[in-house]
Amino acid sequence: MEKILVIGAAGQIGSELVLSLRKIHGSNNVFATDIKQAPNDVIESGPFETLDVMDDKRLIHFVIRHKITQIYHLAAVLSGNAEKLPLQAWHINMQSLMNILDLAKVVDDVKKVFWPSSIAVFGKTTPKINTPQLTVTEPNTVYGISKLAGERWCEYFYNRYNVDVRSIRYPGLISYKTEAGGGTTDYAVEIFYEAILRGKYECFLKKNTTLPMMFMKDAIDATINLMEAPAKKISIHSSYNVGGISFAPKDVANEIKKRIPNFKITYKPDFRQAIAKTWPESIDDSLSCKEWNCNTKYNLSKLTDTMLNGIKEKFNN
Ligand code: SER
Repeated sequence: MEKILVIGAAGQIGSELVLSLRKIHGSNNVFATDIKQAPNDVIESGPFETLDVMDDKRLIHFVIRHKITQIYHLAAVLSGNAEKLPLQAWHINMQSLMNILDLAKVVDDVKKVFWPSSIAVFGKTTPKINTPQLTVTEPNTVYGISKLAGERWCEYFYNRYNVDVRSIRYPGLISYKTEAGGGTTDYAVEIFYEAILRGKYECFLKKNTTLPMMFMKDAIDATINLMEAPAKKISIHSSYNVGGISFAPKDVANEIKKRIPNFKITYKPDFRQAIAKTWPESIDDSLSCKEWNCNTKYNLSKLTDTMLNGIKEKFNN
């Protein structure tokens, strides 16, 4: 029986992943933790504790006390916020990962670790279209540099200490349950909220800025599929490309207009445009799809329907 620790359970990914993992492994076997309070359904559906991943001593006690076998470490400072406090973001993103890798090395019960990387590991010298798994990675953002260094450390811990750490380079993640905050791809979440609340949106990226994106349900499914794949299928111990769908702000705006005809979008690019410009437009994930199932079920139209309905329902409640 697995005992799973999710760090960052109050966040955009964690708040949804915890519920999916509890369905699979049983509510009491999935320990949700965060430094902030998690949504009610996370707290009410199983164990929740306040835990700071930077506190390595409490972390190791927690893991030993609960006989944890798998860790999902999802806490991070995202790309936009990281540019505001570069050294702090570097410290948090790197030290938290090192705490987890070192713990997985020394605690025998811990058999598997998941850690998210990002399309931010790519940079302006990377081929932009159908970006390959193995390619030039010269990121220009603090967030991207920390993710690239993290990938190298994951592979190092696998090679050197046989730590089974698995990772996905997530594209921009779109969801309505918990907002991300501080990311460059987050316009594609805000736009739906603003469409419903105000009927208009001022976008911080230019209208033709195409980026790879993925609806949260697809991201959760991919994450669980990767973690459940037999170890012999896994050839990448840094991080796997996952493609999702690619679109630009004008494409989402058009989909919204089909459903809310009076919706208006204006563009006022800020510092995040410079970040987005260095990221790929589309991702080649053929290796991931070959080695484990990374299928995307949500296209832009289905994603738009689900986001608009989900947000409306959230406000009605
Ligand atoms: N969505 C993240 C960000 O924009 C990228 O991984 O920061």
